[in-house]
Amino acid sequence: MIREYNNYSLLLHNTFGIDVKATRFVEYDTVDDLRELLTSGRIADPWLHIGSGSNLLFLGDFNGVVLHSHIHLIELLEETTDAVFVRVGSGVVWDDFVAYCVEHGWYGTENLSWIPGEVGASAVQNIGAYGVEVKDIIHSVATIDMNGNEQVYSLQECRYGYRHSIFKEPEMKNCIVTSVCFELSKKACFNLGYGSIAEELQKYPGEPTLATIRQVIVDIRKSKLPDPEVMGNAGSFFMNPVVKRTQYETLIQKYPEMPHYDVNEEWVKIPAAWMIDRCGWKGRAIGAAGVHDKQALVLINKGGAKGREVAALAQEIKKSVFDKFAVAIFPEVKFV
Ligand code: EPU
Repeated sequence: MIREYNNYSLLLHNTFGIDVKATRFVEYDTVDDLRELLTSGRIADPWLHIGSGSNLLFLGDFNGVVLHSHIHLIELLEETTDAVFVRVGSGVVWDDFVAYCVEHGWYGTENLSWIPGEVGASAVQNIGAYGVEVKDIIHSVATIDMNGNEQVYSLQECRYGYRHSIFKEPEMKNCIVTSVCFELSKKACFNLGYGSIAEELQKYPGEPTLATIRQVIVDIRKSKLPDPEVMGNAGSFFMNPVVKRTQYETLIQKYPEMPHYDVNEEWVKIPAAWMIDRCGWKGRAIGAAGVHDKQALVLINKGGAKGREVAALAQEIKKSVFDKFAVAIFPEVKFV
């Protein structure tokens, strides 16, 4: 089924809680519905496909068509002794899928618990947290283009990098993800090395289980990140920048306590949150746009903020980080 609405409020479709409208909002239930929409010429430029709007900042009304997938299938394609291959529709809420995997005893998604968003967008964005990226469990991604041609991209063809995939590249702008095939392990294989996961697990007696790890991750996230239902936000606003090792060496001499992660011999990743925090932004606000007081990488809507106010705050933050550290930071959030 296809549902279409005119002059439609996007307030409940962006986790920043920005009150803007789309000229048209179109939601579809199946790949066939989407093909019909695309090939009948009902979707003209400008159009935008959204998930749950957890990585978007609307700067104003969207004068065009906003598309949203309601493809809700979860289908077990193949099961071996060690693994399952599961096809999941682009419109499935990501965390519902994580809960489903945990219930079924499938390993791989648990560290990505409680990340807002939907499955289609997870594969575009290569969501990541606590030492895992979604690419680690993706087998392939099914897509459709504006002419209704379907194509499946193998993991390799998706060209995944940190918060990056081929689907973010400009030449792929006419390509819509319809479902994602995940390869999940049936054998316990936990990833407990990141941050305080192992320490937090001590609260649960006995061997770790999928359910306890999910709970620990949810608890850690809830302690650091604001709930979009309570306080508008889009998770990390900026990506963590990668700098040349020579620049890192200059920085670490000046700031010996600076956290960092080696990417390879040439590049080092520096947490943007740490730099923003050192610039004194944590808990500060300009108008209704603010910086979360528990995680400096998260910008918040303190109530009624306009997209442009959040963008202006982001610009100020970017400038002060550059002035202090000579490091350029770039938004993870897409401005529309
Ligand atoms: N830090 C500060 N001040 C702060 C927050 C953090 O100094 O206000 C320091 C921490 O002490 C730590 C470092 O910065 O040394 C990194 O902080 P954290 O571990 O909280 O992670 P992050 O790099 O800020 C990334 C992801 C998050 C993901 C976490 C956990 C990006 C852009 N963000 O954040 O992803 O949940 O790691 O794995 O890579 C998202 O993308 O929306 C997101 C929330």
